[in-house]
Amino acid sequence: MADLFDKIYKDKGPLGKWSEVAEGYFVFPKLEGPISNRMKFRGQDVITWSVNDYLGLANHPEVRKVDAEAAAEWGSAYPMGARMMSGHTSLHEKLQEELASFVSKEAAYLLNFGYQGMVSTIDALVSKKDVIVYDVDAHACIIDGVRLHLGQRFTYKHNDMESIEKNLQRAEKIAEQTGGGILVISEGVFGMRGEQGKLKEIVALKEKYNFRLLVDDAHGFGTLGKTGAGAGEEQGVQDQIDVYFATFAKSLASTGAFIAGDQEIMDYLKYNLRSQMFAKSLQMQLVIGALKRLEMLRTMPELKEKLWENVNALQNGLKDSGFDIGTTQSCVTPVYLKGSIPEAMALVNDLRENHGIFCSIVVYPVIPKGMILLRLIPTATHTLEDVEITLTAFSAIRERLENGTYRRLSAGVAEAMEK
Ligand SMILES: Cc1ncc(COP(=O)(O)O)c(C=O)c1O
Repeated sequence: MADLFDKIYKDKGPLGKWSEVAEGYFVFPKLEGPISNRMKFRGQDVITWSVNDYLGLANHPEVRKVDAEAAAEWGSAYPMGARMMSGHTSLHEKLQEELASFVSKEAAYLLNFGYQGMVSTIDALVSKKDVIVYDVDAHACIIDGVRLHLGQRFTYKHNDMESIEKNLQRAEKIAEQTGGGILVISEGVFGMRGEQGKLKEIVALKEKYNFRLLVDDAHGFGTLGKTGAGAGEEQGVQDQIDVYFATFAKSLASTGAFIAGDQEIMDYLKYNLRSQMFAKSLQMQLVIGALKRLEMLRTMPELKEKLWENVNALQNGLKDSGFDIGTTQSCVTPVYLKGSIPEAMALVNDLRENHGIFCSIVVYPVIPKGMILLRLIPTATHTLEDVEITLTAFSAIRERLENGTYRRLSAGVAEAMEK
């Protein structure tokens, strides 16, 4: 018999195995200073393209004031206990009502964290008889929610309508035998590549198949649609989304999340969401802070307009300079380059140290071997000057990537990695 920790001593896991070369720089970097377009990394000013503060609310003076006042009035403990037992307040209800009305749903329910809330929502919506059909590129919180499911589940190829239909047919056969139903799960915006989920096409399938649709709109909420109500509003199908989910961790620049839908379904979830029934209620500071942020989202369309001015300038600039930004249909801006992991590391080092640009880097196994994905998140706090500097830097690093500079610089690392 092995010691439980033996495997941990031998293998730190797919990401952990890079910790010695990556930690503190490529992973677990420390970005310092107020959250904005310019922050500090290892003491140096950098243009920050890696923070999902889409509307620039994180450090907005009005938001900071309300957050500080709420903390002074309530502290960080209030309310104590789970909503069901002792942690319920009128302000929690008020926030739910306002969120529901904003996303055009009858009711909403608060979640302490998006990740846990999504896991729990999936768990509460399905029973063993039901079948889940979900996009293969779904976020980890969806995958982990599906893992709890005791019945059948099928993935469909990313945003592929033929594949979703094929899987709906398989699901229908099983549901007919078990007497269960079908839950389809998509994202409103897929956070890595920036594509929107094909919600319009998916809801059109409701005419042929009997299913309910759950949408994780973490990146769409606040950024897409006329009012900022997200990908469903953008695609004109918000009313066809049966359970709408968004987190406060992006456009609302805070912590917490919510689900919204028909009153009866939300009433059911209120009594069956284990992540909320068995966890302390969202603290008051976050509730009051979310009310303020939502009010700003509703009343300050200029924030979303500025965001999109920056998104368009950055995405058009990259395309005009010949960069491959894939098929993004959102603020998420991926830049695909070809190169090895050591080359990607040398390239990001150059970007940060010599050009003052901080963006996230994604490599194999998240994307295919030999590809480098630099992921940029524009926000309303960026300026067109930030975009110009970044475009110039990107042209410079592409040249160095193509002329083999990074291959030479990273030869030592490549050798060490092969060992
Ligand atoms: C698509 C998506 N869903 C869910 C979450 C989890 O939300 P939270 O950070 O509130 O746990 C994230 C990340 O924040 C996300 O990108």
